[in-house]
Amino acid sequence: MRQHRLALCKEHFLEWVPEQTERFIRKYDMFSREESILVAVSGGKDSLSLWDILARLGYRADGLYLGLGIDGGIDYSHESQRFSEHFADKNNLKLHIVDIEREYGQPIPALAESSHRGHGKPCAVCGLVKRHEMNRLARDLGYDVLATGHNLDDEAAVLFGNTLNWSGEYLLRQGPVLPSSDGLARKVKPLCRFYEREMAAYALARGIEYIYEECPFAEGSQSIYYKELLNELETARPGAKLTFYLRFLEARASGELFVEQNKGAAHLHPCPRCGQPTSTSDLCSFCRTIEKAALANV
Ligand code: AMP
Ligand code: FES
Ligand code: ZN
Repeated sequence: MRQHRLALCKEHFLEWVPEQTERFIRKYDMFSREESILVAVSGGKDSLSLWDILARLGYRADGLYLGLGIDGGIDYSHESQRFSEHFADKNNLKLHIVDIEREYGQPIPALAESSHRGHGKPCAVCGLVKRHEMNRLARDLGYDVLATGHNLDDEAAVLFGNTLNWSGEYLLRQGPVLPSSDGLARKVKPLCRFYEREMAAYALARGIEYIYEECPFAEGSQSIYYKELLNELETARPGAKLTFYLRFLEARASGELFVEQNKGAAHLHPCPRCGQPTSTSDLCSFCRTIEKAALANV
């Protein structure tokens, strides 16, 4: 691992990953041993590895799988569900499964189409629905905290995009922990300092079976393009990705980055239908999407 100037054998690598994770959980004050954790699992290497690590560390962590109804010619959603269920069974862990079509009448691609959001791609609606549902379920099922499998490559790509746009509001919120606020569960990303390849190596070494394919709609996406750019940078300068992300966290924590406070946050109010915070004057974007989809169907 050139980025850390460290070389480990399989056995020590498998100890190093949970040790580091534990260190990050404490450093960023993510959660305590007494708290209950809902891990959002997609069937991919990151979220299944996260679940594995938290279970090995002795945390109380259950899983949540959202059935999005995406086929893409590879039966993507069914396959990823199968991997998630298999992992839960094998490790005797509890997995909640929520099917979007069953809950809201249509799978993600149909919801995206009938709501006319996202320029012909379902990804925007998918992101909206995932965020909303993870939040709702963490709250309704009574968990203290919601954990996702975002790794360093994911976070650096998002940071890169937000920096290119100078999206102040997003930059103020991006980080390993998003504290709970009215109607929103606390969100944590315990893997945010691990490189994607470190997580792939971990899943492989632990014998975790996961879905190799990415979501078929991700092809050609902006985030993949940013990841490629950052990988080029990383090849030329090992460690650059980690430095980019960590220096951002430091700069923000020290208050150097933004002097003005985020005023937008003050205007949030609960959505009259679902109760989650929104900045619009009426229904939140999620509820509007569902309403439009329902109207398009009559
Ligand atoms: P993505 O947005 O696909 O890069 O996924 C980021 C994180 O969101 C994953 O590491 C998971 O924790 C979570 N996630 C993605 N898809 C699902 C899903 N279908 N069900 C539950 N959690 C998911
Ligand atoms: Fe949601 Fe691809 S569109 S995971
Ligand atoms: Zn709503």
